[in-house]
Amino acid sequence: MTEEIQYKSDLKNVDWQEMKQILEIDRFDNGRTPQQLQKSFENSYASVIAYAGSNIIGTARVLSDGVCNGYIVDVWTLTQYRRQGIASNMLKILIEQLEGQHIYLFADEAIDLYTKLGFKPQPTGLGKVVGEWLQNDSLDSSV
Ligand SMILES: CC(C)(COP(=O)(O)OP(=O)(O)OC[C@H]1O[C@@H](n2cnc3c(N)ncnc32)[C@H](O)[C@@H]1OP(=O)(O)O)[C@@H](O)C(=O)NCCC(=O)NCCS
Repeated sequence: MTEEIQYKSDLKNVDWQEMKQILEIDRFDNGRTPQQLQKSFENSYASVIAYAGSNIIGTARVLSDGVCNGYIVDVWTLTQYRRQGIASNMLKILIEQLEGQHIYLFADEAIDLYTKLGFKPQPTGLGKVVGEWLQNDSLDSSV
């Protein structure tokens, strides 16, 4: 029997420590503390967290001005749950909240995940880290 996966956008009861741990275990941790994870999700336009039972097994979120531009980040499915459509479902939940907007994202693998949802390659992405990665006032304990 296929395990039921739940998709939640309400961030009220998220265990950010658990999210940090599972990202570390799955080698998709980018260094954020649990507090920084919480702040980055709470400051997003929309987020989706996928659960198997009470366990976090996927994330996706979008930054947006609510008018014309959205940027999708933190798309991740726990390794043992991949290729079951979970990332596609999370992306669909975000996309349906972005009517009329241009969505951009950066992908270095699994390009078909996005092309199957209608994304087209759009050169050229440019990026820069200002100062030192994650070193800013998000490290303050008060979120
Ligand atoms: C990329 C990732 C989010 C995909 O999650 P997923 O839940 O397995 O994705 P889905 O099951 O919705 O995949 C849908 C389709 O996308 C494509 N796809 C997914 N993963 C792929 C991969 N690793 N390589 C190539 N195509 C892939 C396939 O066409 C797939 O359809 P199929 O399974 O019928 O062949 C997951 O592999 C992951 O977390 N990887 C590590 C983190 C990462 O790279 N995130 C993306 C940052 S841009």
